[in-house]
Amino acid sequence: TAVPTTFKGLAGVVVDTTAISKVVPETNSLTYRGYAVQDLAAHCSFEQVAYLLWNGELPTDAELTLFMQRERAERRADRSLLGLVAKLPESCHPMDVVRTAISYLGAEDPAEADASPTANRAKSLRMMAVLPTIVAADHRRRRGLDPVAPHHSLGFAENFLNMCFGKVPDAEIVKAFEVSLILYAEHSFNASTFAARVVTSTMSDIYSAVTAAIGALKGPLHGGANEAVMHDMLEIGEPDRAEEWMRGKLARKEKVMGFGHRVYKHGDSRVPTMKEAFRDVAAHTDGEKWVRMYDILEKTMGDATGIKPNLDFPTGPAYYLMGFDIEVFTPIFVMSRITGWTAHIIEQSESNALIRPLSEYTGVPQRSVVA
Ligand code: CMC
Repeated sequence: TAVPTTFKGLAGVVVDTTAISKVVPETNSLTYRGYAVQDLAAHCSFEQVAYLLWNGELPTDAELTLFMQRERAERRADRSLLGLVAKLPESCHPMDVVRTAISYLGAEDPAEADASPTANRAKSLRMMAVLPTIVAADHRRRRGLDPVAPHHSLGFAENFLNMCFGKVPDAEIVKAFEVSLILYAEHSFNASTFAARVVTSTMSDIYSAVTAAIGALKGPLHGGANEAVMHDMLEIGEPDRAEEWMRGKLARKEKVMGFGHRVYKHGDSRVPTMKEAFRDVAAHTDGEKWVRMYDILEKTMGDATGIKPNLDFPTGPAYYLMGFDIEVFTPIFVMSRITGWTAHIIEQSESNALIRPLSEYTGVPQRSVVA
């Protein structure tokens, strides 16, 4: 008799093929549709990257113009959706707001069940376009401020920053923010993407799949880590306390958020690009002390364990210095990763097989019910 083999956490298990992105841990590289993320971050807008993920190729000028027009036309949230956001308790996490908003968009879409690639691409664009409006409105209401309407003449990143802060920040900040969106957009079969693929594999709809993905991303072992990083940094307070803090965490065998990765064991391919963007933001906002703290934490962890930072480590303090409330960091991750999730949802539905693994039973042996 064959002994069942279990793969806790599916570590090392290849569950399907994908043509969307490739992670090569040995060389710390990540490509979207064949392009290195660093190159995309250096040369492209977030809109171009979204187009690439959904269509497999970067857009021509004419394709990009049309795509941007369509994205800008879909940004408005109707009054009922904004009213729903306003009704949710301010004590809830902003990820709950985002999760509820996507679920609502599904409920109000009369063509929710149409899962053709064309319909799913249109729905993906609608979700990508309207999410920033929701996230920004929620961010502002928690500060007691009225929402700022989306602006037609602004790019995706600029428009979101404008809706949050009531003005477009300096170009250095916009660029760093856009780089973070590009780096967060896609990462193969991570937990939230896999959750989206599992839901899609039952032939459920795209909104249900994205709602599930948001639930998976919320956890601190996944997207929630960027928030945890900044809470830790604020607790540390000053760079000269960073080494002792890290040694204490390690001595108590506590996990340090923003470090380690299931796939990358020698460093996260996205970190050097995001660290550079974080440095730019810090130089522009008088935030150098956070860079010094970053370096000390990275070095202390590296010397003691060899474990390297992941993308959430530089994005946490970068978003903080841009002026965002900490709880909005993971919703920003959603605004970006929704492009990758939906590319995977489309791919999964184009060559579907129900995802239904097995388990090894370890409970009590079969017994009789005594009436
Ligand atoms: N702090 C301290 N020790 C760690 C950390 C960490 N962040 N990450 C891994 N280790 C240690 C861990 O304690 C274990 O040690 P030992 O073998 O002595 O028990 C060893 O390294 C292997 O760790 P693991 O948790 O079994 O490895 P994994 O592949 O399951 O972990 C991880 C991946 C991301 C869950 C983990 O590194 C972690 O919890 N990191 C903190 C959370 C975090 O930053 N998450 C964001 C991930 S990247 C962005 C994203 O996908 O959203």
